[in-house]
Amino acid sequence: MAKEEKGKFTGKLGYVLATAGSAVGLGNLWRFPYLTAKYGGGAFLFTYLILVVIFGFGLVLAETAIGRKTGKSSILAFGALSPKHAWIGIIPAIVPVLILPYYSVVGGWVVKYLFGFLSGDAVAMTQNGYFGGYVSQAMEPLVFFFIFFLLTTVIVLGGVEKGIERMSKILMPVLVLLTLLIVIYGLSQPGALEGVKYFILPNFSEFNAKTVLAAMGQMFYSLSISMTILITYGSYMAKDIPMDTSVLQVELFDTCIAILSGLMIIPAVFVFSNGDLSNLHAGPSLMFVTLPKVFASMKGGAFVGIVFFILTLFAALTSSVSLLESVTSIFMDKWNLTRKKSIAMILIFSIIVGSLSSLGFGSLSSVHILSLSIFDFLDTITNSVMMPIAALLTCYFVSRVIGCDSISDEVKISSPFKMEKLFTFTITSVAPICIIVVLISSILQTVGILSV
Ligand code: PHE
Repeated sequence: MAKEEKGKFTGKLGYVLATAGSAVGLGNLWRFPYLTAKYGGGAFLFTYLILVVIFGFGLVLAETAIGRKTGKSSILAFGALSPKHAWIGIIPAIVPVLILPYYSVVGGWVVKYLFGFLSGDAVAMTQNGYFGGYVSQAMEPLVFFFIFFLLTTVIVLGGVEKGIERMSKILMPVLVLLTLLIVIYGLSQPGALEGVKYFILPNFSEFNAKTVLAAMGQMFYSLSISMTILITYGSYMAKDIPMDTSVLQVELFDTCIAILSGLMIIPAVFVFSNGDLSNLHAGPSLMFVTLPKVFASMKGGAFVGIVFFILTLFAALTSSVSLLESVTSIFMDKWNLTRKKSIAMILIFSIIVGSLSSLGFGSLSSVHILSLSIFDFLDTITNSVMMPIAALLTCYFVSRVIGCDSISDEVKISSPFKMEKLFTFTITSVAPICIIVVLISSILQTVGILSV
């Protein structure tokens, strides 16, 4: 049977917007503002920027080049470059399989809140205990999870150009506009400037090794490193697209949205809580508990809430699409399946695992794996363990197995490689050391010895 073609991005814009779509996600919206506020504002921001330019650039570029050089997805890409090392592609291939189901559960919560704000239910959503009560129900969260998953599926079924690229070209510009809208509105509220100062001005008393560690972990997650996604999207990049500037643009896009999210969220919470930022916890509680209350206290807050949950939905959708596409691409490559059949198989798996993670907040709350709920287990094992290991193996693969020149040659097909020396230095020395530090600290955090 002839192999079904996977397709390619039509140009640089398609690649940059789709990859930025993957990078811009809940990590930008609920993690970055919180970490910045906690770890010394501008001091954290500055550290993060340096890490993104040096360390993030090297890792993103390496994965993208591996994808484009081989035209294959994770497992086969490593194997095509060195058959003995195909196993290196296995861990990054498993990561999106495990993230997709529980990420879609959160996507379902976003759809629910959007519906809630649209139908004028915002007040109910601000009641204490609403969110906890909602997620512990059995049926409704499952229905919204299916809706979110279905949206993701429809886009990926459309293929690379007509599905993913077209969606990114529409959703990403709208996302930027909506974000700017809320930032401008929020900053025009009395007292907001104090919040901006808190967010931007460096506070060196909060700056320590933990700042660097937190910035590094955030960079990993936010740039979708070690999730196979960058290899997959790299494999859809034509040989004439300049790779280094494309990667820099993706990083710039992701970082700008992260900073805008900070400007959107921190001043608003600051005004709402009269300068007491204890409400600014990251994660679900920020997005689904604190922010609805903040919106309710604002003039025009019902409208701001709608805009906010639309942009959050777009951010989550472009990320979940990149997860589903990466897994689909692996199935198509590895087992020679059609796009439709691959998606059907992933759908069955994801619906089962996603439903279990969702029910883990209610009827299955007594089920624990390594004393974590199903949802937290999937999150922790992927982010804290598998991703740093995959990144470390990728550095090893590039620097010791195929050689940095092999990546440089691929980059130079389409443009001069101005940052070549920096790239080689990062991949061979800085990155592995940093990743080992992140890995050890994540494990210590997981077992409760270290708190970040
Ligand atoms: N980069 C995403 C973010 O910042 C993380 C992510 C990407 C999660 C793709 C899932 C899928 O939220």
